[in-house]
Amino acid sequence: MLPLLLAATSLLAPTVAVASQPRSAVVAGGDGIIRAPVNAIAGGPLPKLRARQNKVDVANQKGGTRYAVDIEVGTPAQKLTLILDTGSPDTWINPACDTANVPADCRTFSRFDATKSSSLKDTGVGDVLVYGIGNATVEYVYETLKIGSAKITNQVVGIAVESHNIPLGILGMSPPVNGVNEYSYVLDTMKAQGLIKSRAFSLDLRGVDNPNGALIFGGIDTGKYIGSLAKLPMLSQANTPSGADRYYVTMTGVGVTLPDGTMAKSETLSVPVFLDSGATFSHLPTPIYQAFAASFSNTQYDPESGYYYVPCGVTELDGSVDFYFGGKTIRVPLNDFIWQVQGRCILGVLPNDEEPTLGDTFLRAAYVVFDQDNREIHIAQAADCGTNLVAIGSGANPVPSSTGQCTALPTPTNTGKGDNLDVTATRVPSNTFTGTAPTGVGLGPGPAQSKTMSATLGSAPQATGAGGAGKSGVGRVEVGGVAAVVVGVVNMAVMMV
Ligand SMILES: *[C@@H]1O[C@H](CO)[C@@H](O)[C@H](O)[C@H]1NC(C)=O
Repeated sequence: MLPLLLAATSLLAPTVAVASQPRSAVVAGGDGIIRAPVNAIAGGPLPKLRARQNKVDVANQKGGTRYAVDIEVGTPAQKLTLILDTGSPDTWINPACDTANVPADCRTFSRFDATKSSSLKDTGVGDVLVYGIGNATVEYVYETLKIGSAKITNQVVGIAVESHNIPLGILGMSPPVNGVNEYSYVLDTMKAQGLIKSRAFSLDLRGVDNPNGALIFGGIDTGKYIGSLAKLPMLSQANTPSGADRYYVTMTGVGVTLPDGTMAKSETLSVPVFLDSGATFSHLPTPIYQAFAASFSNTQYDPESGYYYVPCGVTELDGSVDFYFGGKTIRVPLNDFIWQVQGRCILGVLPNDEEPTLGDTFLRAAYVVFDQDNREIHIAQAADCGTNLVAIGSGANPVPSSTGQCTALPTPTNTGKGDNLDVTATRVPSNTFTGTAPTGVGLGPGPAQSKTMSATLGSAPQATGAGGAGKSGVGRVEVGGVAAVVVGVVNMAVMMV
């Protein structure tokens, strides 16, 4: 057992400043850079937040469970909110709230009216997309999308005719899980249409108290990280644990830094982990999950869910949960690693020995560049010290090696005991949770399962500007209805730097 006691009884003064920053506007950068804000949204039963000016709202925002981007679909453009997902390749929209398992949650978000778009063309092909926590039955259409300043034409987009547990559509950013490009995914199309030079984007989810998260296609923002971007090879499909092609990298260690600045670290590890913005939690091998839990005092283990509850005061402490990738360390502040929902504070990790995942509880502290063309992931400690966009070029090594402009974090002191976070022991939780677990929380979709399309799509139609005829096949798509109102869209966050 580790002598690491992150106890609520030793509360330090909160160091978290409440930011009342405006939601960042969509800006077009230089050549081939497209930027779109990323916001955290809460699940159905959570409070619907409209304002974010005061501390109460900020605290509530920490219950955000999914990260989303606003895009526009169709002609004339209809604004939609989609989950941003690096764990799945398909992009689909969800107007089918009547067949969603929680229709009220689904109706919280704006929906697409297929009858009002002149650029929609049906493909006649449908599919069932299966994710970690649910699925969607979609019909594919060709449509016009606008993401930030980019206008993408003839993009294959699914329109849901039924969905389970996933109440809003998904902007899929991963490679195809089975390794076969069955059609041109959004990133492919952006490159093919000359909007970006490489199939590459950077993702900055930001901490729970900072609203300036962003998804940047074809560029990086050196005002959003500290030090260098470490280049990590993406594992080849053959080398991933399940043979699925995902954004897998090798994690070489884990650790914990205490509020007093001392740290503990595991021995050197070699754990394949994939980066999934669609996963609310991180899912790590059981011994690591247990070692993290054992680093906190007064935890309660819930055998139903696998959640470890911690005293909420822990979120106000300095200290971090640390992830090592070769020479690069990403320290996740406790405030970002602990998920606050329905008055409970839950450690942001669950066990998974098959497909370890670093989800939102990790990505909030990382600045990550995903270079699909070169199968490389670049990673740095995220921060927020302004905006300076630099373009990603083409060919080999297109991601600029620019140093981040933000100030380095204090260096933790090693406790002198060396490799002292034991991630080999099997631990039996002593304290069992007996309260009521959060229910009905809209978790992220989780990773897409591998699939093969049921039919081949025809080639994209020539853009004629004429709509109409191609729409008949989407007759099952729910259209019209109640005026769409986006509520519950909240910006996460507070400066952690
Ligand atoms: C989709 O989810 C529903 C509800 O969990 C389930 O009954 C159905 O079998 C799922 N479909 C597929 C193809 O996984």
